[in-house]
Amino acid sequence: MNIAVLVSGRGSNLQAMIDSIENGYLKARISVVISDIENAYALLRAKKHGIEAVFVDPEKYSSKEFYEKQVLAVLKKHNAELILLAGYMKILGKTLLLAYKDRILNIHPALLPAFSGLHAQKQAFEHGVKVAGCTVHFVDETLDGGAIILQRCVEVKEDDTDETLADRILEQEHKIYPEAVKLFVENRLRIEGRKVKILRS
Ligand code: GAR
Repeated sequence: MNIAVLVSGRGSNLQAMIDSIENGYLKARISVVISDIENAYALLRAKKHGIEAVFVDPEKYSSKEFYEKQVLAVLKKHNAELILLAGYMKILGKTLLLAYKDRILNIHPALLPAFSGLHAQKQAFEHGVKVAGCTVHFVDETLDGGAIILQRCVEVKEDDTDETLADRILEQEHKIYPEAVKLFVENRLRIEGRKVKILRS
């Protein structure tokens, strides 16, 4: 399966995916990495592993629709069958959502539906939760609201700061995102309303 990864920043989740493919855990191929930020470190990570890395400049397009049409052209050129959002900081519009319905996944650093949106780890920490975590979900037109595939808990420790907590959540992100992608690639996910059924292998 050809995977496209959309990024905006450091790309540690992209790296986890690359590593999972290189060590044979994930039988798939990343055919392109697309960023909306020119100097995103994620683009360098991709190049280092011989993966096509493309910056699509949002400033060049007068609307989200035109921007996404360009992204779509890049996706088609690289025969992408599945899109992974990995720290991609733009909200998807109809163009991509319709073209890749039920074929877009996202990783979010909180136990959804709690703490959607930006700085989720900090939101959770400041709320005083005792258990935080991360979620992989299908992307739909709602903000971080699509059907949930996998979640993992992270206990909040007495001496945590929002940063130490975010680091431990990130370690779990790097595990569950490849796990969820593996389930997708193996065709073991069925969306049933709000629920995602995981079929046995
Ligand atoms: C990750 O923590 C990811 O969960 C979060 O951005 C970070 C990207 O890190 N995503 C969101 O907050 C999306 N709402 P990375 O670039 O090192 O993978």
